[in-house]
Amino acid sequence: MQTSFPHLAAPIHVGPFTLKNRMAVAPHGPFYADKGVLTQRYVDYEIEKAKGGAGLVIMSFGVANHKGPDVATSMFGGMVATWDKRNIPYFRVIVAGIHEHGARVFFQFGESAFRSKLAVSALPHLGNGLDWTPEMSKQDIADLMDSYARCAEVIAEAGLDGIEMHGHGDFFSDFFSLAINRREDEYGGCRENRLRFFLEAASVIRGVIGTERVLGARLSVYDLLPGSLPLEEGVEVARLLAASGWIDYLNIDTSIEPQLLEHIIPPMYVEQGYEVYAAEAVKRVVRELPIFTAGRIVDPQFAEDIIAAGRADVVTMARALIADPEWPNKVLEGRTADIRPCLGDNQECIGRAILGLPMGCTVNPAAGNEREWGIGTLQPAAEKRRVTVVGGGPAGMEAARIAALRGHDVHLIERSGELGGQVLLARQLPGRADIGKFLPWQERQLGNLPVRISLGMEATVDSVVADAPDVVIVATGSDWDKSGLAALSYLPIAGTTQANVLSVTDVMAGAEIGDAVIVLDLTGFVQAPGIAEMLATAGKSVELLTPYPRVGSTTLEFTYQRPFIMQRLATAGVVTRVDTSICSIEGMRVELMDSTTGQISVRDGIDSVIIVGGRIPQQGLAKALTGKGIECHSIGDCAEPATIGRAFGDAWQICRAL
Ligand SMILES: Cc1cc2nc3c(=O)[nH]c(=O)nc-3n(C[C@H](O)[C@H](O)[C@H](O)COP(=O)(O)O)c2cc1C
Ligand code: SF4
Repeated sequence: MQTSFPHLAAPIHVGPFTLKNRMAVAPHGPFYADKGVLTQRYVDYEIEKAKGGAGLVIMSFGVANHKGPDVATSMFGGMVATWDKRNIPYFRVIVAGIHEHGARVFFQFGESAFRSKLAVSALPHLGNGLDWTPEMSKQDIADLMDSYARCAEVIAEAGLDGIEMHGHGDFFSDFFSLAINRREDEYGGCRENRLRFFLEAASVIRGVIGTERVLGARLSVYDLLPGSLPLEEGVEVARLLAASGWIDYLNIDTSIEPQLLEHIIPPMYVEQGYEVYAAEAVKRVVRELPIFTAGRIVDPQFAEDIIAAGRADVVTMARALIADPEWPNKVLEGRTADIRPCLGDNQECIGRAILGLPMGCTVNPAAGNEREWGIGTLQPAAEKRRVTVVGGGPAGMEAARIAALRGHDVHLIERSGELGGQVLLARQLPGRADIGKFLPWQERQLGNLPVRISLGMEATVDSVVADAPDVVIVATGSDWDKSGLAALSYLPIAGTTQANVLSVTDVMAGAEIGDAVIVLDLTGFVQAPGIAEMLATAGKSVELLTPYPRVGSTTLEFTYQRPFIMQRLATAGVVTRVDTSICSIEGMRVELMDSTTGQISVRDGIDSVIIVGGRIPQQGLAKALTGKGIECHSIGDCAEPATIGRAFGDAWQICRAL
């Protein structure tokens, strides 16, 4: 096949196999297992990736210590108890499904101190409430080797093509660390000793799976912990592991979990390919094995260039392929403009997983719902209907797209002169352009479909009725509250009707803002810090207040955005104050209250107060259409203000059933 991406399309030998291309699924746990056992959902999820064209699927995550705590109760529910033979029938279906598409499948497993309550050395440990976890004994090590063997037996019996040892914050990697490994026996001290655990485990696993299957290792060669594993040391470790002859490839990344997960799965604030340098460093010294790389690789040309420049041999992607499993096929078929882009928001993928929920995706509602919504499931509607969609934000655009794909006659009406809704504003916040990455994609898709789009048109009951639709989909969005009405009190903040008190919408629409600004964040999400940073960068003196105990205490926490946002706020010079709300605003005088102690303080000389309150669903049209005899559905923020993911999900739910 002729392709503009010859390096991504090129086959490569890994162990005894030839991968059909160099686009691999980076190991990522979707957390769909049930009490340690794979499920149909898991099966469908993994096979979808091969359907989409990836040459290799590295499944994850399997815990390995069969004597460890119950998998069901471990952090990140939904992991696989790799040793459990009940997984074999599921694995076999996955293997058959993936092989059918000409791809290969490996399974990643490991065991970590934060799950196992075992530690390489006696140290306080996050997974143990920071209590000191005792150093594992020789018997513990022998037991772990036994566990690894049991896991490898299951993988081999199930017919998988290979195993990947999980080594970015796991016993496989903790032993390398100069900070974590303080042992005084033959597993600690000199480099040879620090490699002993990994090499013993590799020899045990290899002993079970033989050479007809692949054994590889995910390896953080620079763990970013002070005094732990600097890059030069990590590269030397990689060189020695490669030279040992036990493994067939190295999947290189950086950082360590659980301490620095924000660097393993970083949000949009981090540049594409941020850790390719580490794979490149290993590739310079390891000539005998294929070197894999990962880390916010989303753009096909960027991926192609990594391989073309010899920086790595295989590009692995987790989130780009969650957002669009057909990424590889689209690349090979020259349809890169059709790739649905990952936003790097982390909200529905790792953001859900951290909360112990099954993984999804903001822009791909099919993630985890492949059986109903996956590749090839969209069917033409039994009956062509006239569908009027009101509102051209993410929900409305997606509704129009799905309805048109199913053959309906679609009219999309948007009040403003541009499609995109609030995302047009959200993408203007500093560092957050990627949140709007799907808009050009949606517009392109709509442009390829026979959708009538009316911009600058205010839909009224009369105009909608005049359209003679069979179905109306109302996606009129939400508007930002600036009354400060918080669920805590149900009372508005006194003075919020003043001209110098502004909402998110006012600010993003370019309202005049003075030099001394207070931003009150009642949501704990990205808008308030984003606005504060934007204004401070423009030279204003900005104080960011929140009644919560932490800035960004809601979504930012579990989407790994918070550390980056806090850093940006500090750099911009924003003063932050937690546990604080506003009692009243009178002219330029703002009275604050410590929400824990009730203590009052006053700020004078404040030019502008920006209240980032909740969002109010815009339900006027939907309500007015009730009783008019037209089938009507509300989706997205106007049904319930939530996330872009919810907007997409609503659109799919309704329009796939029309
Ligand atoms: C939901 C989710 C789960 C992940 N689970 C694992 C895992 O089990 N093992 C692993 O080595 N990496 C895991 N990762 C990290 C990815 O392999 C990858 O290194 C990271 O997401 C950066 O690559 P990306 O930008 O292509 O997503 C996970 C990532 C995500 C998003
Ligand atoms: S949820 Fe967001 S970050 Fe995660 S895969 Fe989907 S688009 Fe990418």
